[in-house]
Amino acid sequence: MALKITVIGLGYLGATHAAAMAELGFEVLGLDIVPEKTEMLSAGRAPMYEPGLEELLRKHVAGFEGSTGRLRFTSSWEEIGAFGDVHFVCVNTPQKHGEYACDMSYVESAFDSLAPQLGRTALVVGKSTVPVGSAERLARRLTGLAPAGGDVELAWNPEFLREGFAVQDTLHPDRIVAGTASERAEKLLREVYATPIGEGSPFIVTDFPTAELVKTAANSFLATKISFINAMAEVCEAAGGDVAKLAEAIGYDERIGKKFLRAGIGFGGGCLPKDIRAFMARAGELGADQALTFLREVDSINMRRRGHMVELAREAVGGASFLGKRVAVLGATFKPDSDDVRDSPALNVAGQIHLQGGQVTVYDPKGMDNARRLFPTLGYAESALEAVRGADVVLHLTEWGEFRELDPAALGEAAARRLILDGRNALDPAVWRGAGWTYRAMGRPRA
Ligand code: UDX
Repeated sequence: MALKITVIGLGYLGATHAAAMAELGFEVLGLDIVPEKTEMLSAGRAPMYEPGLEELLRKHVAGFEGSTGRLRFTSSWEEIGAFGDVHFVCVNTPQKHGEYACDMSYVESAFDSLAPQLGRTALVVGKSTVPVGSAERLARRLTGLAPAGGDVELAWNPEFLREGFAVQDTLHPDRIVAGTASERAEKLLREVYATPIGEGSPFIVTDFPTAELVKTAANSFLATKISFINAMAEVCEAAGGDVAKLAEAIGYDERIGKKFLRAGIGFGGGCLPKDIRAFMARAGELGADQALTFLREVDSINMRRRGHMVELAREAVGGASFLGKRVAVLGATFKPDSDDVRDSPALNVAGQIHLQGGQVTVYDPKGMDNARRLFPTLGYAESALEAVRGADVVLHLTEWGEFRELDPAALGEAAARRLILDGRNALDPAVWRGAGWTYRAMGRPRA
């Protein structure tokens, strides 16, 4: 009999995981405490923009013509407990208000609601990003609270999906990390992931703390790589060098690699910033804070980028103040192909300029609704052309493909001045300069 799977928490991670599990052939039941989410998903709609996710939902959500019917949603913990052989916990772990540490309350309450419903043998699998040491503690709590006691086990299986590529990353992971405490748990996880393992995804078995640490270590490394190239951008600006050429040249060394070396306004989103802070906080609790003091520098290099972009924009509009100046902002999400604006560098820059008296108009292909909710006082336009109309300066802050396709000549007709600052080093300077624009990018020489 095929395993029955439940997914608890249906956000960026859980919604994709639930659909992917159905695609792998399992019967899946998803639960979220927000009824709107389960209602949308039951109607085959994704609660966020993620390429390919709605297609996958419609292929599997029960009730669609031609669907496999393998994917259903509920709000009943009792039903979840009765249904699942394997329960994936995918709730979020945001940064605590006013602290670096991560807020474990959603994880705790998911375990507290699930455990009393586990009356038969089951494997609970944590996927959320948690401070090292959490799994050990949650495992004890689980067996203590579950009616089936020791027949309920925990495994930790961190998620590495990137927003914008979530479906691809979930179906074809570049590695699967299984923090397990028994052979039975390992065997079950191998069964769940038999398809990607068959396709060659490495399956790495570890203890609980290592599994938890793999996730935070990976995100810390990525954040460090981005801040490294942004530090080089600062030096390039001071010395008259070109960080884009520098990144290309060092990237040919395979030990360094080309990826994640795009200088610009830095990293944001729901993961990297809060994960490095939570990691520092946890290391402090463990008495290993010295090991991670470099992450403080990684964080501050990153946050400096936003301020630096504001200063470049101020310089572009005359150097004194933003008062009476019109600023067009292209991009609101923290990265392209996502509608996620959590800790978005683009919106942060737009907000700072607005608070200093600039008239900011933002356009983003998918992030407008979320941006409006977070920053209702900013101006919003329905297209890039509308945002640019009458602008004294244009800021390119999220590297959507759509912005690379823009016609600089047409935009030049609409703008008050042909002045563009590329905060992502993603536009072609020659094309913009050819159309009469002054193009400036971070860490690159002025033409
Ligand atoms: C990240 C990790 O990549 C993923 O493995 C983990 O599971 C969750 O966190 P995500 O938050 O989706 O995924 O975004 P990612 O693609 O890593 O980008 C993070 C930020 O870094 C974005 O704001 C992006 O614009 C920025 N970035 C990325 C750069 O500034 N320069 C780069 O070269 C690459």
